[in-house]
Amino acid sequence: MNIYLKKFIEEKFRKPGKALDLGAGDFFDVACLKQLGWKCEGVDIKTGVDLEKYFLSEKHPFDLVFSNYVIHKLNDKEQFIKTVFDNLKKDSWFFIHTFDKKDKNSKSALTADHLRKILSRQGFKNIKTGVFSYYDNEEGHKHWHKILEATGKK
Ligand SMILES: C[S@@+](CC[C@H](N)C(=O)[O-])C[C@H]1O[C@@H](n2cnc3c(N)ncnc32)[C@H](O)[C@@H]1O
Repeated sequence: MNIYLKKFIEEKFRKPGKALDLGAGDFFDVACLKQLGWKCEGVDIKTGVDLEKYFLSEKHPFDLVFSNYVIHKLNDKEQFIKTVFDNLKKDSWFFIHTFDKKDKNSKSALTADHLRKILSRQGFKNIKTGVFSYYDNEEGHKHWHKILEATGKK
């Protein structure tokens, strides 16, 4: 499981709730959260949900909406952030990981400032952003990334 997401959940939640993973990939984080007692839905283009379009889950509202390494791929980032917002309960948290513009191993054009602007325009509170280096040790990767993390509350 994404260890930063796990740490975030341990800090913010006293008990398991209901989560949504936007762009779930192989659904590994969804499976891990279920193991931890969460109800967790994952969606992805591979399972028929195109996040270039607005998406409101039938299971909304959620206690946590997270999305890892997806937003930098999307053209309409504002609409995606509206998707994050509308799927959340009031006072609930989002968690986003993406690649920063300075990352030499991705074509991301996102900066922390840009993401913060979109998030605050949408109405999120307690927004925190940070950029850190992470070595991707997977076979065929073996390189450094600049990860951009954003968290906040509806
Ligand atoms: C790098 S993977 C990350 C998967 C997972 N979140 C993780 O952290 O391991 C990016 C995922 O975004 C999905 N994706 C890309 N464009 C998408 C779109 N327009 N709508 C929904 N999912 C999309 C891909 O199918 C892929 O599963």
